[in-house]
Amino acid sequence: LDALEIGLRCLGIGAGDRVLTTPLSAFATTLAVLRVGAVPVFVDIDRFGLLDLTAAEERLRRGGIRCLLPVHLYGHVVDLERLTALGSEFGVAVVEDCAQSIGSRFRGAPSGSAGEIAATSFYPTKNLGALGDAGALLCRNPDFAQHSRRLRNYGEADRYQHVEVGLNSRLDELQAALLRSVMLPRLEAWTTRRKEAAATYLDGIRNPRITVPGSPPGSASVWHLFPVLVEPQRRSHFREHLTQHGVSSAIHYPVAIVDQPALSTRAFEVCGGLNAARWWCRAEVSLPIHPWLESAEIHRVVDACNTWAG
Ligand SMILES: Cc1ncc(COP(=O)(O)O)c(C=O)c1O
Repeated sequence: LDALEIGLRCLGIGAGDRVLTTPLSAFATTLAVLRVGAVPVFVDIDRFGLLDLTAAEERLRRGGIRCLLPVHLYGHVVDLERLTALGSEFGVAVVEDCAQSIGSRFRGAPSGSAGEIAATSFYPTKNLGALGDAGALLCRNPDFAQHSRRLRNYGEADRYQHVEVGLNSRLDELQAALLRSVMLPRLEAWTTRRKEAAATYLDGIRNPRITVPGSPPGSASVWHLFPVLVEPQRRSHFREHLTQHGVSSAIHYPVAIVDQPALSTRAFEVCGGLNAARWWCRAEVSLPIHPWLESAEIHRVVDACNTWAG
């Protein structure tokens, strides 16, 4: 959250500026926009649950947008080539939310490499998680690097010289050491394990009542989550069936950001009915996926899905 906020501030995004983003994400994505005083503009999602870039382009054509804030949700990657092209065609900054996508690639290019700035999270449940809250901002531009270091430390340019109103958002040293020495060396093996579980699900789940969206073309996903879709009226039944077979599940996310009560007191813009996002919130179920799943457990999930009669 702080990395997103700091990133937006480095780009000079502030009061009244319009930031185009997705209604399907952790609330933090939009919260960062609100915290800098900007106005979130929501466009609908595609069939993988990601920001629909065709809808985004239509809105960009109408003008008034300063920043594009896509989320590489579930460990998938939004089309990076198209993001870069949209950024330059419409003269808007691109900030990528990589909280769920560390290690993922789009046709060889890492998520986080399309925009001016990217933000990632090391929250404990993330693919690269610390033992407490942590996160990072990624950028190529040395000016942004310098500015972001200042913003994270009370806006201090020099000892006791506060040139702007910053935050206290330093990465705790113990978490940093742990991430670098213990977690990061294991990330690749953990990601491989996630991909193996996802491949077994993609191959094995064969139930006409369960839609498995898979990952978008070009996206080498790191499977932070594994979403499937069922008829909204049958979702509770499906989840109960999973529980009875010893399989836990979750929902990402049950409410579109635009429908969160916190938005009711804030200015925002909606493009179209956001029907796909709202339907997704009622239909989605996340199956278990993490590096420590045993093969037998992965197959139990497949069997539980395949024996659900709807
Ligand atoms: C897509 C996305 N963006 C932003 C965040 C916020 O990350 P953090 O909790 O580390 O501030 C999260 C994590 O919850 C997330 O999943």
